[in-house]
Amino acid sequence: MIDSIKAQLELVCPRTGLCADIVAVAARDSIVALGGPSWNVQLGRKDSTTASQFKCCNTNLPSPFADLTTIITAFTNKNFTAQEMVTLSGAHTIGKARCSLFRSRLYNESNIDSAYAASLKKNCSSVGGDDNLSSRWH
Ligand SMILES: *[C@@H]1O[C@H](CO)[C@@H](O)[C@H](O)[C@H]1NC(C)=O
Ligand SMILES: *[C@@H]1O[C@H](CO)[C@@H](O)[C@H](O)[C@H]1NC(C)=O
Ligand SMILES: *[C@@H]1O[C@H](CO)[C@@H](O)[C@H](O)[C@H]1NC(C)=O
Ligand SMILES: *[C@@H]1O[C@H](CO)[C@@H](O)[C@H](O)[C@H]1NC(C)=O
Repeated sequence: MIDSIKAQLELVCPRTGLCADIVAVAARDSIVALGGPSWNVQLGRKDSTTASQFKCCNTNLPSPFADLTTIITAFTNKNFTAQEMVTLSGAHTIGKARCSLFRSRLYNESNIDSAYAASLKKNCSSVGGDDNLSSRWH
């Protein structure tokens, strides 16, 4: 998606728009498209010339299995409050989750609405289908 936006931007305004800005503007526009608020995006981010999935990203992003204390700590380390963490985590109410990411909770815990749990189990059995998606697990 970002590559496609970048290709179109290059045609109109070559070597100017940066992918980092496109990500920020696309995030704002996605929220507007879903009926949320709008805001002015401050432009001028620079793109990184290298990628750092393991040294940077994966060590800073909390795992999908992290508990609340761990998540609050990860955001506190970035100077976000717990309330801001909740707001940012709300992004996960959009999109889909892989079965492998919620299976353990789905089959091990009893504090999930039983009809809801049953509907999720239809597409996420206790083994296999790791990549099956659910748009309803939030
Ligand atoms: C958090 O705030 C402190 C104090 O203003 C600052 O020194 C630090 O660099 C900030 N950390 C991040 C990740 O922005
Ligand atoms: C239930 O939890 C245990 C312990 O974390 C785990 O080994 C097991 O795989 C979980 N069950 C499922 C179906 O994921
Ligand atoms: C994965 O989803 C398909 C339907 O898309 C379903 O037929 C299959 O049983 C699912 N696999 C598991 C392990 O739940
Ligand atoms: C079941 O999983 C398949 C494969 O990921 C996905 O296409 C489909 O939308 C899922 N169905 C439901 C009801 O979540």
